Amino acid sequence: MKFFLDTANIDEIRDAASTGVLDGITTNPTLISKEGNAFEDQLLKICSLVDGPVSAETVSRDAGGMIEEGRHLAKLHRNIVVKCPMTKDGLKATKILSGERIRVNVTLVFSAPQAIMAAKAGAYFVSPFVGRLDDVGQSGMDLIRDIVTIFNNYEYKTEVLVASIRNPIHVVQAALMGADICTMPAKVFEQLFKHPLTDKGVEQFLKDWERVPVIK
Ligand code: E4P
Repeated sequence: MKFFLDTANIDEIRDAASTGVLDGITTNPTLISKEGNAFEDQLLKICSLVDGPVSAETVSRDAGGMIEEGRHLAKLHRNIVVKCPMTKDGLKATKILSGERIRVNVTLVFSAPQAIMAAKAGAYFVSPFVGRLDDVGQSGMDLIRDIVTIFNNYEYKTEVLVASIRNPIHVVQAALMGADICTMPAKVFEQLFKHPLTDKGVEQFLKDWERVPVIK
């Protein structure tokens, strides 16, 4: 399973990348707007820190605009994956860009039919948003199970990128279901390393180690 960080913050990315287990980054216009830096400059900084896919979202509403933006973004750096929204125009753009061997992440996916359409359009990643579904009283993880099953049934190459993750349980459930990737905020990434019994165990071992005689 691959782990992506869902952020545009350089400090968070640098810190997660230093662990050696970070596989990529997803950004969106909201995350970019928090950093107060020009879009392309921020993307290039991120690409210099992470040797893996970096999703950059288009902001046009029409397919023509998304295609133009997507071509431009893809030329900026080899790590960039173009994000298109799960709209009819977004899928038209996905089909054209994928045909040009530009990797596309179809984002804002909230149903299995949308995921099928994205795969048929040639998406490289499909991003179902589990947390936002949970927020409106629907089960985000049930959607992941359905999409993984459907993609396996038809051997679609599109990877399932579980997005809008809120806690480590989402990550574990996604792994059990066989999803390809989880993208998560830095806070959840940190939680994946943690267990109180590990901290307690380290404290105890180091305390006991102090009683071991030193031979001079
Ligand atoms: C994914 O690519 C999105 O950026 C992200 O996961 C959205 O998450 P949110 O619902 O926490 O904003």
